[in-house]
Amino acid sequence: MTQPILIAPSILSADFARLGEDVSAVLAAGADMVHVDVMDQHFVPNLTFGSMVVGALRRYGIQAPMDVHLMTTPVDSLVPDMIAQGADYVSFHPEGTIHVDRTIQLIRSLGAKPGLALNPATPLHVLDHTLEYLDLVVVMSVNPGFGGQPFIEASLDKITQIRNRIDRLGKPIRLEVDGGVGIGNIRRVVDAGADTIVSGSAIFNTPNYANTIQLLRDQLM
Ligand code: DX5
Ligand code: ZN
Repeated sequence: MTQPILIAPSILSADFARLGEDVSAVLAAGADMVHVDVMDQHFVPNLTFGSMVVGALRRYGIQAPMDVHLMTTPVDSLVPDMIAQGADYVSFHPEGTIHVDRTIQLIRSLGAKPGLALNPATPLHVLDHTLEYLDLVVVMSVNPGFGGQPFIEASLDKITQIRNRIDRLGKPIRLEVDGGVGIGNIRRVVDAGADTIVSGSAIFNTPNYANTIQLLRDQLM
């Protein structure tokens, strides 16, 4: 099942002092979705922000889908407010919650789309009893915690294996790749089977977002 390729800039690399303006600019430049990295300095060694930032961006006028990536433990206590503030997708790591199925059900029951994020060393068997209940699988192509890290090449094989599983299932589950993706490797990532591309530093650290997003899309032609 081929879906349009979505580009989701990670606001981890945006200008936090003028976040609404920067997110508006990246959407006007052609981005499809806003990737929101929530870090708790416990599940990952870095600390970012919570649902208040999602709500603030909504009130600022951001209407694009918001793809919230929870790098936290626990997970469930954060989910209701994240969705109330405007998250569309809520992804979490299986290591961050005790009852993975319960967390998936919680996200869906509150009207959002559940996603499962797999660290580079997380085996694919976590999808055995969960894949059919998900709207998104996130392949981490870096160890979570920081923007600007190099892409882990072994992720490509993982992407292909998950692509095959999604296709066998025949459901429109998005396959997102998160970490170290830019102009030099987006083609290989999409050829491997990804349809949703997170890119933080490779977009926000450039002066002209529209040029950069166009260059990313040009690699896919
Ligand atoms: C890593 C985050 C990623 C990261 C992507 O923990 O989940 O979303 O910010 O940033 P780049 O594209 O700079 O690797
Ligand atoms: Zn992320």
